[in-house]
Amino acid sequence: MTVTSPGPLPATTTHHENTVAIVGGTGALGLGLATRWAHSGVHVRIGSRRPEAAQACAGKLPGAVGGDNTTMIEGAAAVVVAVPFSAHVETMRSLAKAIQPGQLVIDTTAPLLPVGPRGLRPIVPWAGSAAEQAQALLPDGTSVVSALQTVSAATLQDIGLRLEEDVLLCGDHTADKVLAADLIGRIPGLRTVDCGLLDMSGVCERITALLIGINRRYKTHAGIRITGLPEPDAR
Ligand SMILES: NC(=O)c1ccc[n+]([C@@H]2O[C@H](COP(=O)([O-])OP(=O)(O)OC[C@H]3O[C@@H](n4cnc5c(N)ncnc54)[C@H](OP(=O)(O)O)[C@@H]3O)[C@@H](O)[C@H]2O)c1
Repeated sequence: MTVTSPGPLPATTTHHENTVAIVGGTGALGLGLATRWAHSGVHVRIGSRRPEAAQACAGKLPGAVGGDNTTMIEGAAAVVVAVPFSAHVETMRSLAKAIQPGQLVIDTTAPLLPVGPRGLRPIVPWAGSAAEQAQALLPDGTSVVSALQTVSAATLQDIGLRLEEDVLLCGDHTADKVLAADLIGRIPGLRTVDCGLLDMSGVCERITALLIGINRRYKTHAGIRITGLPEPDAR
Protein backbone atom coordinates (compact mmCIF):
# COMPACT_ATOMS: atom_id res chain seq x y z
CA MET A 1 0.00 0.00 0.00
CA THR A 2 1.45 3.37 -0.90
CA VAL A 3 0.89 6.17 1.57
CA THR A 4 -0.02 9.06 -0.63
CA SER A 5 -2.99 10.93 0.78
CA PRO A 6 -2.07 14.16 2.52
CA GLY A 7 -3.53 13.93 5.99
CA PRO A 8 -4.51 16.71 8.34
CA LEU A 9 -2.91 16.84 11.76
CA PRO A 10 -5.04 15.66 14.67
CA ALA A 11 -7.46 18.39 15.74
CA THR A 12 -5.79 18.66 19.15
CA THR A 13 -2.39 19.73 17.85
CA THR A 14 -1.11 23.29 18.08
CA HIS A 15 1.94 22.63 15.91
CA HIS A 16 2.66 24.38 12.65
CA GLU A 17 1.57 21.97 9.93
CA ASN A 18 3.88 23.24 7.21
CA THR A 19 6.95 23.36 9.44
CA VAL A 20 9.68 20.77 9.75
CA ALA A 21 12.62 20.95 12.13
CA ILE A 22 15.78 19.03 11.27
CA VAL A 23 18.00 17.93 14.14
CA GLY A 24 21.49 17.63 12.64
CA GLY A 25 20.32 19.88 9.83
CA THR A 26 23.84 21.09 9.01
CA GLY A 27 24.90 17.60 7.96
CA ALA A 28 24.84 15.88 4.59
CA LEU A 29 21.34 14.42 4.76
CA GLY A 30 19.83 17.19 6.86
CA LEU A 31 21.01 19.88 4.49
CA GLY A 32 19.87 17.86 1.48
CA LEU A 33 16.37 17.55 2.91
CA ALA A 34 16.36 21.19 3.98
CA THR A 35 17.31 22.24 0.45
CA ARG A 36 14.54 20.25 -1.20
CA TRP A 37 11.89 21.22 1.33
CA ALA A 38 12.80 24.89 1.33
CA HIS A 39 12.46 24.95 -2.46
CA SER A 40 9.07 23.23 -2.15
CA GLY A 41 7.52 25.85 0.13
CA VAL A 42 7.94 23.96 3.41
CA HIS A 43 9.06 26.09 6.38
CA VAL A 44 12.40 24.59 7.31
CA ARG A 45 14.11 24.99 10.66
CA ILE A 46 17.71 23.84 10.62
CA GLY A 47 18.82 22.57 14.01
CA SER A 48 22.38 22.16 15.21
CA ARG A 49 24.54 22.07 18.31
CA ARG A 50 26.19 25.12 16.65
CA PRO A 51 23.49 27.79 16.11
CA GLU A 52 25.74 29.99 13.93
CA ALA A 53 26.44 27.08 11.58
CA ALA A 54 22.72 26.41 11.32
CA GLN A 55 21.99 30.07 10.61
CA ALA A 56 24.66 30.10 7.90
CA CYS A 57 23.06 27.05 6.24
CA ALA A 58 19.57 28.54 6.54
CA GLY A 59 20.73 31.80 4.99
CA LYS A 60 21.26 30.01 1.68
CA LEU A 61 17.74 28.56 1.54
CA PRO A 62 14.42 30.34 0.87
CA GLY A 63 12.41 30.92 4.04
CA ALA A 64 14.60 28.72 6.23
CA VAL A 65 15.75 29.59 9.73
CA GLY A 66 18.54 28.10 11.81
CA GLY A 67 19.39 27.75 15.47
CA ASP A 68 20.12 25.28 18.22
CA ASN A 69 18.33 21.95 18.01
CA THR A 70 16.03 22.55 21.00
CA THR A 71 14.84 25.98 19.85
CA MET A 72 14.25 24.76 16.30
CA ILE A 73 11.97 21.85 17.26
CA GLU A 74 9.61 24.07 19.25
CA GLY A 75 6.20 24.05 17.56
CA ALA A 76 7.28 22.10 14.47
CA ALA A 77 4.76 19.48 13.36
CA ALA A 78 7.53 17.08 12.45
CA VAL A 79 11.05 16.71 13.77
CA VAL A 80 13.45 14.93 11.44
CA VAL A 81 16.47 13.36 13.13
CA ALA A 82 19.52 13.29 10.84
CA VAL A 83 22.54 12.58 13.04
CA PRO A 84 25.09 9.75 12.82
CA PHE A 85 24.17 6.54 14.64
CA SER A 86 27.04 7.17 17.06
CA ALA A 87 25.10 10.25 18.28
CA HIS A 88 21.67 8.61 18.21
CA VAL A 89 21.20 7.77 21.91
CA GLU A 90 22.56 11.12 23.08
CA THR A 91 20.37 12.99 20.59
CA MET A 92 17.21 11.09 21.54
CA ARG A 93 17.85 11.68 25.24
CA SER A 94 18.12 15.42 24.70
CA LEU A 95 15.13 15.39 22.33
CA ALA A 96 13.13 13.57 25.00
CA LYS A 97 13.44 16.63 27.25
CA ALA A 98 12.19 19.06 24.59
CA ILE A 99 9.68 17.19 22.44
CA GLN A 100 6.01 18.06 22.98
CA PRO A 101 3.03 15.70 22.79
CA GLY A 102 1.74 15.45 19.24
CA GLN A 103 5.05 16.19 17.54
CA LEU A 104 6.07 13.51 15.09
CA VAL A 105 9.66 12.27 15.00
CA ILE A 106 10.94 11.04 11.64
CA ASP A 107 14.09 9.00 12.18
CA THR A 108 16.43 8.67 9.18
CA THR A 109 19.21 6.77 10.95
CA ALA A 110 20.97 3.80 9.43
CA PRO A 111 23.09 2.08 12.11
CA LEU A 112 26.46 1.51 10.45
CA LEU A 113 29.86 0.56 11.78
CA PRO A 114 33.08 1.38 9.92
CA VAL A 115 34.94 -1.82 9.02
CA GLY A 116 38.44 -1.71 7.56
CA PRO A 117 39.70 1.26 5.55
CA ARG A 118 36.55 1.87 3.47
CA GLY A 119 33.83 -0.57 4.54
CA LEU A 120 30.61 0.05 6.44
CA ARG A 121 28.53 -2.75 7.89
CA PRO A 122 25.01 -2.59 9.33
CA ILE A 123 24.73 -3.27 13.03
CA VAL A 124 21.66 -4.14 15.10
CA PRO A 125 20.92 -1.75 17.99
CA TRP A 126 19.71 -3.22 21.26
CA ALA A 127 16.09 -2.26 20.48
CA GLY A 128 16.17 -4.04 17.10
CA SER A 129 16.59 -0.93 14.95
CA ALA A 130 17.49 2.73 15.28
CA ALA A 131 13.85 3.75 14.96
CA GLU A 132 12.76 1.37 17.73
CA GLN A 133 15.63 2.67 19.84
CA ALA A 134 14.29 6.19 19.27
CA GLN A 135 10.78 5.12 20.23
CA ALA A 136 12.09 3.50 23.41
CA LEU A 137 14.06 6.62 24.42
CA LEU A 138 11.33 9.18 23.69
CA PRO A 139 8.42 9.89 26.06
CA ASP A 140 5.18 7.94 25.84
CA GLY A 141 2.89 9.63 23.36
CA THR A 142 5.69 10.59 20.97
CA SER A 143 5.36 8.76 17.69
CA VAL A 144 8.32 7.72 15.59
CA VAL A 145 8.19 7.05 11.86
CA SER A 146 11.24 5.56 10.15
CA ALA A 147 12.04 6.91 6.68
CA LEU A 148 14.60 8.20 4.17
CA GLN A 149 17.51 5.85 4.95
CA THR A 150 17.85 4.93 1.26
CA VAL A 151 17.86 8.45 -0.19
CA SER A 152 21.28 9.88 -1.05
CA ALA A 153 22.23 13.14 0.63
CA ALA A 154 24.33 14.14 -2.38
CA THR A 155 21.36 13.69 -4.71
CA LEU A 156 19.10 15.72 -2.44
CA GLN A 157 21.61 18.56 -2.17
CA ASP A 158 21.94 18.86 -5.94
CA ILE A 159 18.68 20.71 -6.52
CA GLY A 160 19.15 20.45 -10.30
CA LEU A 161 18.90 16.65 -10.20
CA ARG A 162 15.48 15.11 -10.81
CA LEU A 163 14.56 12.54 -8.17
CA GLU A 164 12.71 9.35 -9.06
CA GLU A 165 12.77 6.92 -6.17
CA ASP A 166 10.88 5.44 -3.27
CA VAL A 167 11.05 6.19 0.43
CA LEU A 168 10.25 3.29 2.74
CA LEU A 169 8.05 4.26 5.68
CA CYS A 170 7.59 2.26 8.87
CA GLY A 171 5.50 3.28 11.85
CA ASP A 172 2.92 2.00 14.26
CA HIS A 173 0.21 4.57 13.49
CA THR A 174 -1.31 5.21 10.08
CA ALA A 175 -2.01 8.88 10.81
CA ASP A 176 1.69 9.45 11.56
CA LYS A 177 2.75 7.72 8.36
CA VAL A 178 0.26 9.83 6.41
CA LEU A 179 1.73 13.00 7.91
CA ALA A 180 5.28 11.83 7.14
CA ALA A 181 4.22 10.82 3.61
CA ASP A 182 2.61 14.21 3.07
CA LEU A 183 5.80 15.97 4.10
CA ILE A 184 8.16 13.73 2.13
CA GLY A 185 5.81 13.85 -0.85
CA ARG A 186 6.33 17.61 -0.99
CA ILE A 187 9.73 16.80 -2.48
CA PRO A 188 9.10 16.18 -6.18
CA GLY A 189 10.17 12.71 -7.30
CA LEU A 190 9.99 10.99 -3.91
CA ARG A 191 7.21 8.41 -3.56
CA THR A 192 6.52 6.95 -0.12
CA VAL A 193 5.74 3.28 0.38
CA ASP A 194 4.08 2.02 3.56
CA CYS A 195 6.32 -0.82 4.78
CA GLY A 196 4.34 -1.64 7.90
CA LEU A 197 5.00 -1.33 11.59
CA LEU A 198 8.06 0.20 13.19
CA ASP A 199 9.50 -3.26 13.84
CA MET A 200 10.13 -3.53 10.07
CA SER A 201 12.48 -0.55 10.21
CA GLY A 202 15.54 -2.74 10.79
CA VAL A 203 15.07 -4.25 7.33
CA CYS A 204 14.93 -0.78 5.74
CA GLU A 205 17.87 0.53 7.77
CA ARG A 206 20.08 -2.35 6.58
CA ILE A 207 19.48 -1.48 2.92
CA THR A 208 21.65 1.64 3.33
CA ALA A 209 24.83 -0.41 3.67
CA LEU A 210 23.87 -2.29 0.51
CA LEU A 211 23.35 0.96 -1.40
CA ILE A 212 26.62 2.45 -0.18
CA GLY A 213 28.45 -0.59 -1.57
CA ILE A 214 26.56 -0.33 -4.87
CA ASN A 215 27.38 3.38 -5.05
CA ARG A 216 31.08 2.69 -4.58
CA ARG A 217 31.16 -0.04 -7.24
CA TYR A 218 29.06 1.84 -9.83
CA LYS A 219 30.17 5.37 -8.88
CA THR A 220 26.61 6.60 -8.54
CA HIS A 221 24.00 7.58 -5.93
CA ALA A 222 21.54 4.70 -6.21
CA GLY A 223 18.09 4.71 -4.66
CA ILE A 224 15.39 2.08 -4.59
CA ARG A 225 12.14 1.55 -6.47
CA ILE A 226 9.38 -0.90 -5.48
CA THR A 227 7.63 -2.25 -8.58
CA GLY A 228 4.08 -3.44 -9.08
CA LEU A 229 2.33 -0.93 -6.84
CA PRO A 230 -1.03 0.42 -8.01
CA GLU A 231 -1.17 3.99 -9.22
CA PRO A 232 -2.40 6.20 -6.35
CA ASP A 233 -5.41 7.27 -8.40
CA ALA A 234 -6.49 3.64 -8.78
CA ARG A 235 -6.98 3.16 -5.04
N1 LIG B 1 24.50 10.82 4.08
C1 LIG B 1 23.55 10.16 3.44
O1 LIG B 1 23.55 10.06 2.18
C2 LIG B 1 22.40 9.55 4.21
C3 LIG B 1 21.34 8.98 3.51
C4 LIG B 1 20.28 8.43 4.20
C5 LIG B 1 20.31 8.41 5.61
N2 LIG B 1 21.37 8.95 6.26
C6 LIG B 1 21.37 8.95 7.73
O2 LIG B 1 21.28 10.28 8.15
C7 LIG B 1 22.01 10.46 9.36
C8 LIG B 1 22.96 11.63 9.18
O3 LIG B 1 23.89 11.29 8.17
P1 LIG B 1 24.85 12.40 7.57
O4 LIG B 1 25.63 11.76 6.52
O5 LIG B 1 24.03 13.61 7.26
O6 LIG B 1 25.78 12.68 8.83
P2 LIG B 1 26.81 13.86 9.13
O7 LIG B 1 26.82 14.84 8.02
O8 LIG B 1 28.10 13.23 9.53
O9 LIG B 1 26.20 14.50 10.47
C9 LIG B 1 24.96 15.12 10.52
C10 LIG B 1 24.91 16.12 11.65
O10 LIG B 1 24.81 15.46 12.89
C11 LIG B 1 25.27 16.33 13.90
N3 LIG B 1 26.08 15.56 14.85
C12 LIG B 1 27.25 14.94 14.62
N4 LIG B 1 27.69 14.35 15.74
C13 LIG B 1 26.79 14.64 16.69
C14 LIG B 1 26.70 14.35 18.08
N5 LIG B 1 27.64 13.63 18.70
N6 LIG B 1 25.61 14.79 18.76
C15 LIG B 1 24.67 15.52 18.15
N7 LIG B 1 24.72 15.84 16.83
C16 LIG B 1 25.76 15.40 16.13
C17 LIG B 1 26.13 17.40 13.23
O11 LIG B 1 25.45 18.64 13.34
P3 LIG B 1 25.97 19.82 14.28
O12 LIG B 1 27.46 19.66 14.48
O13 LIG B 1 25.66 21.03 13.47
O14 LIG B 1 25.19 19.69 15.54
C18 LIG B 1 26.17 16.96 11.80
O15 LIG B 1 26.17 18.04 10.89
C19 LIG B 1 22.74 9.14 9.65
O16 LIG B 1 22.09 8.45 10.68
C20 LIG B 1 22.64 8.38 8.33
O17 LIG B 1 22.55 6.99 8.52
C21 LIG B 1 22.41 9.53 5.60
